Amino acid sequence: QRESITELLDRLSEVVPDYPSAGISFKDLTPVFADAVGLRRITDAVIEPFSGQFDVIAGLEARGFVMAAAAAYASGTGMVTVRKAGKLPRPVHSMDYTLEYGTATLELHRDDVAPGTRVLILDDVLATGGTVGSAVKLFEMAGAQVVGIGVVLELSALGGRGSLGANKVHSLQLV
Ligand code: PRP
Repeated sequence: QRESITELLDRLSEVVPDYPSAGISFKDLTPVFADAVGLRRITDAVIEPFSGQFDVIAGLEARGFVMAAAAAYASGTGMVTVRKAGKLPRPVHSMDYTLEYGTATLELHRDDVAPGTRVLILDDVLATGGTVGSAVKLFEMAGAQVVGIGVVLELSALGGRGSLGANKVHSLQLV
């Protein structure tokens, strides 16, 4: 019988104690991305509930790019990059979001999605939801329609899902 996604993530991800700060247990997905079966299985699983519902896949810098590019290739769509402030060279929509300490800004090229485009947003981890929430607002500013949010890990204690309102969130593992 085929290994489940949870079994695969438990086998391949590495838990790093006290990173990035004391008391935090960090679940590192880079070995999952580095594994041929791991990358394919998590990519297929994260987009599966949204099959046929999106025109383009958006990835959030930086680790979301891995998921989004693989998923866009697998599903035959293009991939849109949502980047940290100052990285995109042409006119952008900008949206601030709150971090544990301070704020940050995400940006989207104004013409990378046409109004009405159905967008699936992918990232590696959903924590407070600040990052994804900011991306949702960027696509609303562009007149696009966010059809869903897919992540590998959901840190459920941080309440990210609740902060995203009616948006459909699909995560592969609660941690
Ligand atoms: C991490 C992670 C998510 C975000 C989740 O990215 O990859 O994008 O935090 O946190 P939130 O739900 O509380 O917003 P980070 O900002 O560390 O950027 P990186 O991928 O460029 O390292």
